[in-house]
Amino acid sequence: MELARRLPEEFVEYNAGALPVGVRPRETPRNGLSPEETVRRIAECGSWMVLKRVEQDPEYGALLDRCLDDVAAKAGAVLPPMRRREGFIFLSSPGAVTPFHLDPEHNFLLQIRGTKSVSMWDREDRFVLPEAELEKFYAAFVHRNLPWREVFQTTAWVVPLLHFLRRLARA
Ligand SMILES: [Fe+2]
Repeated sequence: MELARRLPEEFVEYNAGALPVGVRPRETPRNGLSPEETVRRIAECGSWMVLKRVEQDPEYGALLDRCLDDVAAKAGAVLPPMRRREGFIFLSSPGAVTPFHLDPEHNFLLQIRGTKSVSMWDREDRFVLPEAELEKFYAAFVHRNLPWREVFQTTAWVVPLLHFLRRLARA
């Protein structure tokens, strides 16, 4: 809640969580709450939220470095150096959906609480990610969301993310 209050407005994005997977960015509904209130009521307010570039906050910057240094130490030579470290914290109510989108960066997803499933695709698949969409994304960036078709789900790599403590309990 403190971080949501502290971060400049342009680094806090949030909206209603019950979205169709192919929502148009302009049609994304608001949730009518403040950022802080959204965090406080996330369990029941039917929302999706992201706190962006949290490394600009010294405490979260140090936490991000600790996490990524740990990843680097365990991955060894498999990973190239992580040159531009950025931290994003996603908070979502039960049943929230993140629309189909493209991320240009390499990601490590760390689930802190609750569970979710992430659908990912082969980046070379030009049926799911056509050249024209790539061109639009890199040449005239408008929004990360991409046009969605139900048939795409048939080739998704679906990864369940269980939170850290539950994974430890299962090990
Ligand atoms: Fe993403």
